[in-house]
Amino acid sequence: MAITLQDPLPDHFADISPEETDRLIAKCREELGDRVVILGHHYQRDEIIKWADHRGDSLKLSQLAGANTKAEYIVFCGVHFMAETADILTTKEQSVILPNLSAGCSMADMASIRQVEHAWSQLQSVVDCNVVPVTYVNSTAAIKAFVGRNNGACCTSSNAARVISWAFEQGEKLMFFPDQHLGRNTSVALGVDPDREMVTWDPALPLGGNSTEAIRQAKVILWKGHCSVHARFTTEQIAEARATHPGVKVIVHPECSLDVVKAADASGSTEFIIQAISSSEPGTTWGVGTEINLVNRLARELPDRKIFCLDPVVCPCSTMYRIHPYYLLWSLQNILMGAPTNIIMVQEPTASDARRALDRMLSL
Ligand code: 13P
Ligand code: SF4
Repeated sequence: MAITLQDPLPDHFADISPEETDRLIAKCREELGDRVVILGHHYQRDEIIKWADHRGDSLKLSQLAGANTKAEYIVFCGVHFMAETADILTTKEQSVILPNLSAGCSMADMASIRQVEHAWSQLQSVVDCNVVPVTYVNSTAAIKAFVGRNNGACCTSSNAARVISWAFEQGEKLMFFPDQHLGRNTSVALGVDPDREMVTWDPALPLGGNSTEAIRQAKVILWKGHCSVHARFTTEQIAEARATHPGVKVIVHPECSLDVVKAADASGSTEFIIQAISSSEPGTTWGVGTEINLVNRLARELPDRKIFCLDPVVCPCSTMYRIHPYYLLWSLQNILMGAPTNIIMVQEPTASDARRALDRMLSL
């Protein structure tokens, strides 16, 4: 499903102060009670995350959405693919709302269903073995549905190793969409040789820019997608952090490149990063390679640890940042008025096919 641009908010929002916005959001929340649950991804700004009934990484938020069968409305403060996933996992009676329709994910946009189907048919023309498709949840519902139809599974950064191990039990090769880095980092950790057993598939080139022989030899075919936020982290930043802060522990998200992940002390999902830092000894110094809203929040909430972002130039996820308190207020007010807006609805048969890929992931 393509990302739709958000219409401007009604003019009067420009005159509402931050304090008044908070007061009005609180009032709406009180009036709506259990009819609404607000989910917030860890990369949301503080002015939004403070309203979240639940915070989490992609996996936790998917599970929470699926487990909540009571709330009429799930207001998803995150990005488009997360709201789509929540819609697929919730009941028909529930509606998922994305407060700002422009909150997409540039990585998810790097794999369109047309490109993926074209790549798949080219691939099938040169291999005669079973290829298992695996998609990171940071993908459109159409890609998830494609993967579900072709007996593959979704994964998140929390369970990629489990899903990729499962895929290797199902077939000789796997094709991983759309984040080459999560696919590469996870496969290398599972013992796949990045030079001899992996190829990167560039959708702009015939056979993804690979020779038939290289594809036949590969165990893992990585879609050439990436996250522009995590692409900013480098081994030079890690070297600088180690030189400036002796004893620093470096932790990064697996959307970073393989050399960055290898140079770090640990890598994992946003939830993993939070757990690792929260459970460390007071006084520990952490250099963190992930989105700045999360890093700054950890630094504020854990003042007895020294926590800093590896990238000296602030690197927010600009699409996550589009969920401004005005949009949250507008969404809640519209629900109260009986005219909910920005409902994310994945149509059939896409929803059922995508659900197969998600269910496979959740059952592993
Ligand atoms: P997590 O599942 O680790 O929260 O990651 C989501 C994401 O978009 C990271 O860029
Ligand atoms: Fe997408 Fe990267 Fe933003 Fe995550 S941080 S939502 S992968 S653009």
